Amino acid sequence: MAAVRRGRKLFEGKWKILFETEHPDRLIQRFKDAPTFAGARAPVKLARRGAMKNGISAALFGLLHRNGIPTHFLEVLSDREMLVRRLEMIRLEVVVRNLVAGSLAKRLGMEVGTPLAAPVLEHYYKSDALGDPFVNDFHVNALGLASGEELKAIREVAFRANGILLPFFAEREILLVDFKLEFGRHDGRLMVGDELTPDGCRFWDRSTRERLGKDRTRRSPAREAATYQEVFQRICS
Ligand code: TMP
Repeated sequence: MAAVRRGRKLFEGKWKILFETEHPDRLIQRFKDAPTFAGARAPVKLARRGAMKNGISAALFGLLHRNGIPTHFLEVLSDREMLVRRLEMIRLEVVVRNLVAGSLAKRLGMEVGTPLAAPVLEHYYKSDALGDPFVNDFHVNALGLASGEELKAIREVAFRANGILLPFFAEREILLVDFKLEFGRHDGRLMVGDELTPDGCRFWDRSTRERLGKDRTRRSPAREAATYQEVFQRICS
């Protein structure tokens, strides 16, 4: 692996920082141990979370890549850093759901854990100021976020990713309840970008249904630390 020199900071998000490199098409994506966002309550700082996010994302992007789904991931550079392609990001959070949980349970008044007869795909407009509102195709079109053709391709890839991830997690005794993907354009081609970690996915233990990884209720930092580590081990060892 050739040494990659870190250039200027291009972007800082809740969970990651992007740096330029000498190569205009490549960026360094560095994962943080604790999220930073405006108005956050004291964030849960988990030792080595950034390193686990890096390892989990690399493993899952690699899995998608081997199954024909293009992603921005190129290689792991260090504990918390990976080399990625520079994408023109599409401002959508694309969520695929296999079971009812989270905002879907609230919106439709359904019991958490109800299996869905078919996976459900939703998009949310990426806007921190607006709290990532739910949008449909007409909103996406009217806001000029993605073309009709891109939306069709995004859906096809997101469902295909679900079909690849479900058995991968099942083999590791993890139920993939739902997950979020972000997409970007690269030379006119759609690619999965951002990260694929417990911070953007809901994982439950297959037999006990215990929540694994991120604790969305923020009630127990110690439990979150233990189950994040557990997910990391099941995926990466
Ligand atoms: P939700 O039930 O809160 O709508 O979340 C569904 C899944 O998508 C869950 O695994 C978390 C993930 N997600 C994010 O990570 N970021 C987001 O902005 C959204 C809307 C969902």
